[in-house]
Amino acid sequence: MAFRTFAACLRWGGEAAAAYTMALEQEIAKRRTFGIISHPDAGKTTLTEKLLLFGGAIQKAGAVKSSKIKDHARSDWMEIEKQRGISVATSVMGFHYHDTKINLLDTPGHQDFAEDTYRTLTAVDSVIMVIDCVKGVETQTEKLMDVCRMRNTPVLCFINKLDREGRDPFELLDEIEEKLNIHVRPLSWPIGMGKGFRGVYSLYEKSLHLFTPSKTTVEEGIKIENIQDEQIGNLIGENNARQLRADVDLIEGVYPEFDVSEYLAGRVAPVFFGSAVNNFGVKELLDTFIRIAPVPLPRATTLRTIVPTEKKFSGFIFKIHANMDPKHRNRIAFLRVCSGKFERGSNYYHVRQEKSLRFSNATAFMAQDRETIDEAWPGDIVGIFDTGNLKIGDTLTEGEATTYTGIPSFSPEIFKEVVNKDAMKTKQLEKGLQQLMEEGVAQLFTYELGKKKVVGVVGALQFEVIQFRLKNEYNATVEFVSQNIYKACWISSKSPQKLQEFIASKQRHIATDKDGKLVFMAESKAWLQMVQDNFPDIEFHFTSEFTD
Ligand code: G4P
Repeated sequence: MAFRTFAACLRWGGEAAAAYTMALEQEIAKRRTFGIISHPDAGKTTLTEKLLLFGGAIQKAGAVKSSKIKDHARSDWMEIEKQRGISVATSVMGFHYHDTKINLLDTPGHQDFAEDTYRTLTAVDSVIMVIDCVKGVETQTEKLMDVCRMRNTPVLCFINKLDREGRDPFELLDEIEEKLNIHVRPLSWPIGMGKGFRGVYSLYEKSLHLFTPSKTTVEEGIKIENIQDEQIGNLIGENNARQLRADVDLIEGVYPEFDVSEYLAGRVAPVFFGSAVNNFGVKELLDTFIRIAPVPLPRATTLRTIVPTEKKFSGFIFKIHANMDPKHRNRIAFLRVCSGKFERGSNYYHVRQEKSLRFSNATAFMAQDRETIDEAWPGDIVGIFDTGNLKIGDTLTEGEATTYTGIPSFSPEIFKEVVNKDAMKTKQLEKGLQQLMEEGVAQLFTYELGKKKVVGVVGALQFEVIQFRLKNEYNATVEFVSQNIYKACWISSKSPQKLQEFIASKQRHIATDKDGKLVFMAESKAWLQMVQDNFPDIEFHFTSEFTD
């Protein structure tokens, strides 16, 4: 009897495990986690909104607030605070489309917040890049693409604003290849442009989509298998048809057949054309996206690569939002689930702190709301209320002491010394600086000599944000003094002795970052080059994460 009960238990245990594995695999197959990136004003917010409309996540246009901080709002602090509020709400937008669960991660458009964007990109599996057909590839797009390339993130391009007189589509494709250093493969092709814009031909679906401005409903395309089909002339006019046939001929001759594996490897970017504001080309983009975009992918950790189908939960923190309510020091940490199932109320292992933490307070981001959730699957983003335990880059597991890699700090571009203007508030300043740095607002470098504190940022606006928030949230007053620094270089050497010698000889320029890693603060490009030549045994890195 006892044996039979034991056997039944075993069988039951086996069945439960099999059911869990199946559920896990199904949930993973359903998920697409991605970010939309663009140079400001290319149409990221507009496209996001249209995608949410398709997902039924919002009911009307205008519901998505732009998370960009416009130039005229530079000194408007209320505006910045408001934007911070909006960006919590719109940081992650989850919605269902057909059988797919889509997690769209918003990235700040303003270039001064680029570091936040870089970090968000560590939590996605692919990106959609929006390019303005009038302006082509812009500076911010180039920088963002560099970050995608570091991780071989698959990129899909949406060339927007075809209702405007833009540049020649072939020229745009050449520019993407050249400036973004990635091969392209058009999957749709525009017919005319600006006033003469008639629609797009989907090379992937072999269908024609006719353009009517300001569409609220989306019609299915007209199936046209053969580009020579006479019907085309009737639909778009003979001249347009002739041009389209010539273009398609050229495309088929110049670009290799679209190969999904090349896209998934981050080597080829499929390209779509459309007009987000007119809701044109967006559905085709979304339909193709859910078909070809990667499901949650395996990720590297310090010990090994973890695959999403592993039964045990693991994930990492990629973003922290703090002090939304000045009365409470509350923070929301954004966790990307990488493997297994996250369950609210469970204890998970906090690898950096080597301790177990209970997560009773977890929220999911659905459309523009946050709702409490009981479970989350690989690819999902969970918002965790935190009292100061979590930092960007932290890993949570079910016990394994390994840490997700690939969430580096990049060298900032502008550096200023923090000067305390109120000695009575030193403690508050320390605390405020520490918290803001943990939130990833900027990077703090502490000099070995004299303990001088230097803040490094990507864009000058961050200094104003820091000064304002230190005063507002910590009652600390600071001033910033410009520093003559070109780059922060993380240093290492195979020879500990050579490293010590280098530190001794360059003591005035050595600092440590937030994790205590050694950094050489180079004053100029030329000087850095000279130092590199003079110290061949020292390695200089422009990101905090490197392998020796
Ligand atoms: P961003 O998030 O990338 O910064 O861009 P956003 O969507 O805010 O779009 C920037 C501007 O471009 C907006 O105009 C938007 O309406 C417009 N836009 C977006 N898609 C298209 C398109 O397909 N065609 C045309 N012609 N314009 C487009 P705005 O005047 O700055 O703002 P708004 O007052 O229209 O909201």
